[in-house]
Amino acid sequence: MQKLLIRGPARLSGTLVAGGAKNAALPILAAALLADEEVELSNLPQVQDIRTMLKLLAHLGVESERRGDAVILRPTGKANPDVAPYELVKTMRASVLVLGPLLARRGHARVSLPGGCAIGVRPIDLHLAGLEALGAEVEIEHGYVETRARQLTGARFHFAKPTVGGTENLLMAACLARGTTVLSGCAREPEIVDLARFLQALGAEIDGAGEDTITIEGRDRLGGARHRVISDRIQDGTYLIGAALTRGDVTVEGSRPADLAPLLEKLDEIGAEVETSQQRIRVRHRGPLKPRGVVTEPFPGFPTDLQAQYMTLMTQAEGSSIVSETVFENRFQHVPELLRMGADISIDGTYARIHGPSALSGTSVMATDLRASACLVLAGLVADGETVVHRIYHLDRGYERMESKLQKLGARVERID
Ligand code: EPZ
Repeated sequence: MQKLLIRGPARLSGTLVAGGAKNAALPILAAALLADEEVELSNLPQVQDIRTMLKLLAHLGVESERRGDAVILRPTGKANPDVAPYELVKTMRASVLVLGPLLARRGHARVSLPGGCAIGVRPIDLHLAGLEALGAEVEIEHGYVETRARQLTGARFHFAKPTVGGTENLLMAACLARGTTVLSGCAREPEIVDLARFLQALGAEIDGAGEDTITIEGRDRLGGARHRVISDRIQDGTYLIGAALTRGDVTVEGSRPADLAPLLEKLDEIGAEVETSQQRIRVRHRGPLKPRGVVTEPFPGFPTDLQAQYMTLMTQAEGSSIVSETVFENRFQHVPELLRMGADISIDGTYARIHGPSALSGTSVMATDLRASACLVLAGLVADGETVVHRIYHLDRGYERMESKLQKLGARVERID
C-alpha cells in the first residue's frame, strides 16, 4: 500500500495553480443525469472520487470521454438500471447525489444507503424528507433507499439544518419538477452556487443559490452545456496554511479569495501576511504565530474541511487556542496521531485545546479520512526527521498530485510503496 515519506522541516515557497473543486465537480457530474444532450466539463480534478463518480454514471447510462482538458458526457439512451449499487456507494458517500437527478429524470431511483464514515453518522434524512415534499414515495429496505414519482411537483421545503448534499439533491430534483419549488434553510457553499450555474447553463431556472432561500421553476426537459468547475478552496486553503506553518511564502493562482475569506481573516489575525487580488492569493510568514481559536460552521463560517489542517498550524502558535467542531460529531481523529508527533492537545467533547509551540518529531502516522491525512502531511513538513503517512488512499480521494505540488514548493516528499 502506498505511503508518503516526508523529510522535515521544510519551508514552502513558490507559486501553485489552483485545481478544480472536488465538492463542486461531484454534484455537477451527478447533474449530468438531468441533461438530454452532450455536456462538456473542464477543470475536473484528477482525484479518485471523480473517477468513482464517472464509473457510477457509466453504470447509470451516462458515458464519458476525455477531449483535451475537458470531459464529455452524453446519455447513452439505452435502458440502464436506476440503481446505484453498494459496491460503488460504499467507496464514496457522495454517490447519494445521483438520487435527486435520477428520480427527477427517470421517475425511479434506488441508491445504496451510505453508511456512516470516520467523521460522523452522516444521515440523509433531510434529503429524503425534501424528496417526499416534492411528492416522491420513499422506502428504505435491505440497505437501499427506493424512491418513486411519476412526476415530481414543486413545493415549499425548509431544511431543519443547512446540509450541502441535501440542498444539492433537492435543487437538482426541483429542476424537472412541475411548478415552483422554494427551498429555505439552504446551505450556501460556493460549490452549490457553481452547481446552480451549471444547471442554469442546461436551461434550468434558479434564483437565490448561495443564499438561505432558493426558488426553482421546474422545466419539462434540460439540454446540454459547457461548464468550467470552480477552483478548490479546500486544496488552496491547505497549501496556504502550509505557507504560514512552515514560515514560507506561497501564492495560489486561479484561486477565489472570497470563497476563502474565513480562512484568510484567521491567517491575518494570527500574524501571517495575506495578499489577494481577483484570482490570486499570497500568504507569507511574518513573525511568531499568535494563537487564535476557530469554530467550524456552514459557509460563510470557517469550513470544517480545513479544521484539521488549521489545528496543525495552531500546534506552532505561541500559546493556547481552542478549535470547536460544530458540523461533524467525530472529526478529531487526527488528534491522537498529532499527539504521537509531540503535539500538546486535549479534547473535551467537540472542543480541542491546543498548546503551542510544540517541537514535532517525525514518525509513522495513520490517515483516517481525507482532511486528517492533509493535516498529518502538514505536520510532517514542520516535524524534525522523517514522517511516514500511511493509508494515503484517503488523500488521493481529494488532493491532486499533492507530493509533486509540495516538491514544487521546495518540500522533500515522496510516495513510497
Ligand atoms: C459536504 O458533505 C462535503 N462533501 C463535505 O466534505 C463537507 O465536510 C460537508 O459538506 C460540510 O461542509 C461533498 O461536498 C461531497 P452536510 P455533506 O450534508 O453534504 C448533517 C470533504 O472532506 N445532516 O452539509 O455530506 C450531517 O450529518 C468532505 O471533502 C443530517 O443530519 O455534508 C452533518 O452533521 C467531508 N441530515 C451536517 O448535517 C441530512 O440529511 C452537515 O452535513 C444531511 C446532513
